[in-house]
Amino acid sequence: AAVDKAGYKHFMAKEIAEQPAVLTRALDAYFADGAIALPEPGLDFSRIERLTLVACGTAFYACLTAKYWFEQLARLPVEVDVASEFRYREPPISPGTAALFVSQSGETADTLAALRYCRDRAETIGAVVNVTESTIARESDLVLPIHAGAEIGVASTKAFTCQLTVLLLLALRAAHARGRLDDAALADKIAGLRALPGLVNHGLAIEEATRDIARRLSEARDILFLGRGIMYPLALEGALKLKEISYIHAEAYASGELKHGPIALVDEHVPVIVMAPRDGLFDKTISNMQEVMARGGRILLVSDATGIREAGDGVWQSLAMPEVDPWLAPILYALPAQLLAYHTAVAKGTDVDQPRNLAKSVTVE
Ligand code: G6P
Repeated sequence: AAVDKAGYKHFMAKEIAEQPAVLTRALDAYFADGAIALPEPGLDFSRIERLTLVACGTAFYACLTAKYWFEQLARLPVEVDVASEFRYREPPISPGTAALFVSQSGETADTLAALRYCRDRAETIGAVVNVTESTIARESDLVLPIHAGAEIGVASTKAFTCQLTVLLLLALRAAHARGRLDDAALADKIAGLRALPGLVNHGLAIEEATRDIARRLSEARDILFLGRGIMYPLALEGALKLKEISYIHAEAYASGELKHGPIALVDEHVPVIVMAPRDGLFDKTISNMQEVMARGGRILLVSDATGIREAGDGVWQSLAMPEVDPWLAPILYALPAQLLAYHTAVAKGTDVDQPRNLAKSVTVE
């Protein structure tokens, strides 16, 4: 049956709202008898020595996020690149490399070319795709579906959080196979992940507040996003979403890079959106935030209620997310990134589902 908007004003709004349901479905598909189960032929993480992750656009930011998971949870070295660079760089692929290509459509020309480059070089080729009948899926040894369902909005939302979920499952599997998580620790992580769709559902409660903030953001000409550690890729995704559909210039920086350039842009006209769950780097992010405020910058702090309280006075706006284990935060905090972009675009009156000059799938170079 044709996909409709189910009463929502835009496909993007519907696709944001259905994330609790599709994340649950994606997770269900990867469990059998309580254990993580991969489609055949699986991936033998006791033999894989490094991972290469390649993608474009939003899928690339899912890969960048996954690098933190694979490295921190599984101590597995990961190389990440955008497909258009990877394919022409002719990177050496060392023995024991598994190459994963992440693509919603499975038809992105550069990602496919990168896959073909790895064909006779990598140990295994895997496709993390939404469309399982796609060319990228067909040409892979292993297909890992993300189970997001049809995504119509050009700006990717639920495919991103489903890509993250599948990549995180792989990282947990790798951590267990490499002896970095014992059975009990793995069970604990799995319980946390299984509870995540419920948190995402609670997180949707920020929508009203987001709409108000977005009306103010829609007057800005430039917006900065900051994040540290695993939240840095999410900051990049937040900036991408915003520029794609609201046409406001947005840039993301790793918080620690603030002093190396972007702070020169800060004044009262440039809102700075800080993605700061209470993780091990929270205090550092807050001190970067204070540097921005000291220069008259307007901060939108995205954290939990305790984090917002600890950050003290002087913050322009805040969005309170449910408390979450820091390693799960990129999936939960994708919501404010998406909702801010969506409502800013609606406030500006742009064509949210069909933004100018962009295509859902880039099948030519
Ligand atoms: C286009 C779309 C993006 C998407 C990117 C990669 O730029 O507008 O939403 O992230 O292509 O697409 P893929 O299908 O390979 O994930």
